[in-house]
Amino acid sequence: MALILGLESSCDETAAALVTSDRRILAHRLAGQEAAHRPYGGVVPEIAARAHVEMLSPLIAAALADAGVTLADVDAVAATAGPGLIGGVMVGLVTGKALAHAAGKPLIAVNHLEGHALSPRLSDPDLEFPYLLLLVSGGHCQLLLVEGVARYRRLATTIDDAAGEAFDKTAKVLGLGFPGGPAVEVAAALGHAIVPLPRPLKGSPEPHFSFAGLKSAVVRAHDAKTWAVEDIAASFQAAVVDCLIDRTVRALGQAGKVTALVVAGGVAANTAVRTALSGLASAHGLRFVAPPLWLCTDNAAMIGWAGAERFAAGLTDPLDVAARPRWPLDPGAEAVRGAGVKA
Ligand code: KG4
Ligand code: ZN
Repeated sequence: MALILGLESSCDETAAALVTSDRRILAHRLAGQEAAHRPYGGVVPEIAARAHVEMLSPLIAAALADAGVTLADVDAVAATAGPGLIGGVMVGLVTGKALAHAAGKPLIAVNHLEGHALSPRLSDPDLEFPYLLLLVSGGHCQLLLVEGVARYRRLATTIDDAAGEAFDKTAKVLGLGFPGGPAVEVAAALGHAIVPLPRPLKGSPEPHFSFAGLKSAVVRAHDAKTWAVEDIAASFQAAVVDCLIDRTVRALGQAGKVTALVVAGGVAANTAVRTALSGLASAHGLRFVAPPLWLCTDNAAMIGWAGAERFAAGLTDPLDVAARPRWPLDPGAEAVRGAGVKA
């Protein structure tokens, strides 16, 4: 049994967790920064980095105390090394390096996307490779064939905005506040999907996602002053769900045999998204696996778990490993126009 200290700081959540290789989460602490970013309607990188500096050390101390362990009991330190807002990533990675060095423990530089990709195996001990993963967050919208630890094949990505980004921008246009995803979901529950909105790339032979045109259509629908905000929100959410399902069906046709359909990332917290994917999985005779909501959004338990999986595979990193603002999980995947511009 290995005990891993996981650190996360790639966007606007500062987090520390202690996770064991036999799937016990001994502690997980998280400090969000919503209040600091709310006046700007989005994450301000400089404010985020400063908040990580202030919060990370106390969170690590609290997590160690919660778990009743010290750094000496830890087998390795796993820190997010990218992709993400580089200032924040550096805070977490440098902290991880310092702790690993001081305690004489190995460092594991975790790709944040690998944290999301493997997190369903933390909550579900029966989830075996290979599985098809829909990773839908604020920075990413990808379909990945997860073949094993450190073995990922990207089947699709977004050519412009990520799904969570579209939720956030829609919330801003509709005046629903920040963070946008949960606000749009609440408004959508009060409305009806009666506003005609496009489904970009639905039915397209190319595998990818696109949400920029949908966002522009939301702006036009709002400017028309014909529709209630709740109806626009419901129609937007329905369009996103349609696109996610259409592209996932296509990827299932490409993926070969998989053990399950899995969803992860912040947008996986959306009930309409989860319900539609669950229906799709059962229509294909597949298991549907979605981590609990708190494990879908950014957290350090998923980084600790990815660290545990890498540690078991003998994958550790030198102390001079670099922080990477961009870091594709599948380096062999062909570059797509517009994609990967955001963290
Ligand atoms: O994975 P995550 O916490 O951070 C990134 O790595 O991006 O995802 C955050 C994203 C945000 O865009 C947020 O609006 C979206 O996930 N999100 C949701 C919901 N909860 C969070 N989107 C739709 N419905 C939700 N309930
Ligand atoms: Zn994330």
